[in-house]
Amino acid sequence: MKVLVTGGAGYIGSHTCVELIKNGHEIVVVDNFANSHPKAIERVKAIVGKDFPFIEINICDTEALDKVCADHKPDCVIHFAGLKAVAESVSIPLNYYENNIVSTINLLRAMEKHGIKHLIFSSSATVYRADNEMPLTEDSTRGCTNPYGWTKYMCEQIITDAVKARGNCSAVLLRYFNPIGAHESGTIGEDPSGVPNNLLPYLSQTAVGKHKELPVTGADYDTPDGTGIRDYIHVSDLATGHVAAIEYATKVEGAHPFNLGTGKGTSVLEMIHTFEKVNGVKVPYRITDRRPGDSGVSYADPAKAHELLNWKAVKTPEEAYADTWRWQTNNPNGYQD
Ligand code: NAD
Ligand code: UD1
Repeated sequence: MKVLVTGGAGYIGSHTCVELIKNGHEIVVVDNFANSHPKAIERVKAIVGKDFPFIEINICDTEALDKVCADHKPDCVIHFAGLKAVAESVSIPLNYYENNIVSTINLLRAMEKHGIKHLIFSSSATVYRADNEMPLTEDSTRGCTNPYGWTKYMCEQIITDAVKARGNCSAVLLRYFNPIGAHESGTIGEDPSGVPNNLLPYLSQTAVGKHKELPVTGADYDTPDGTGIRDYIHVSDLATGHVAAIEYATKVEGAHPFNLGTGKGTSVLEMIHTFEKVNGVKVPYRITDRRPGDSGVSYADPAKAHELLNWKAVKTPEEAYADTWRWQTNNPNGYQD
């Protein structure tokens, strides 16, 4: 299959490019480096030992996207491109709605024009309301608390409607839980700009000495140790989920949501202690107030993906923490080094 990967220089996209090539797919990658670095593409090529076309475009640019589709004639698209910082989406919502929604509509039009039948979309567990019972299934109640989340919610709806109206085509909506880890080579990984918002990048930057201590944002939740519980999934497991999703997309019609998670929750303190043990480092931390809007517990029921995608997360938290540490220590300044 020839796969057009939008946002393929990013964190999840770069790991998925590796897995696609390993599984015999041909890839064409586009990105505008809004939140990534050209080095990620070079390093993917080094890992797989293969060249592939990369085109620097903004996929909100209709003509540029049209040209890529005409030149490369993909059979399928994986759409990672998007802005993803929750707090930033609250301060500049129109940038988020414009970038994430216009790009998706553009892509759907280009796919129809060029007869591309299958789309895999990066959605998020953030589309589920915080007051659902756990674990979250694909039928749990949806609703968001910030513009970023709403862009995912709206894109899911737009894709579902577009696929239905067009007919004889399919979309897989992958709702990722909390991606962590890095490629085992230590050459590609998450490279957050500025101070990281997410737990593991902040934790590993603290372990390497970039921050004095890790704020543990809330220890009064209704959980065994009081800290927040999430479903952390290794980014390489997420990547294999996309390969499985392509196979599924070729067999079905319509739009189908799937949770990609492990089904297991880990607390903040559990993560700190296991990370320290696995990597032989200290992570200084301090309990602080809760983050506004945070929920105590969130984890997936991944049964639908097990059954229909024939996919399971297989990597352990220990592997994810070791891989993160390898990436962090080899590249203390991310791709800037
Ligand atoms: P990322 O920022 O590392 O990757 C996104 C890539 O898209 C970046 O390389 C960026 O430069 C590119 N991009 C953005 N807008 C573009 C545009 N208009 N044209 C071309 N390229 C553009 O993020 P990621 O963590 O790899 O996430 C990939 C997708 O998964 C995103 O859609 C994100 O919202 C979604 N997601 C991420 C997480 C997470 O925690 N990382 C969780 C759930 C869902
Ligand atoms: C965040 C995003 C969500 C996104 C998800 C995965 C918010 C409100 N939500 O959710 O939209 O889909 O990341 O990218 O930002 N924590 C600390 N100290 C820190 C950072 C986090 O203790 O410095 C705690 C949090 O309270 C939480 C856990 O660690 O319990 C995980 O936090 P985080 O990595 O930000 O993920 P989410 O809260 O799930």
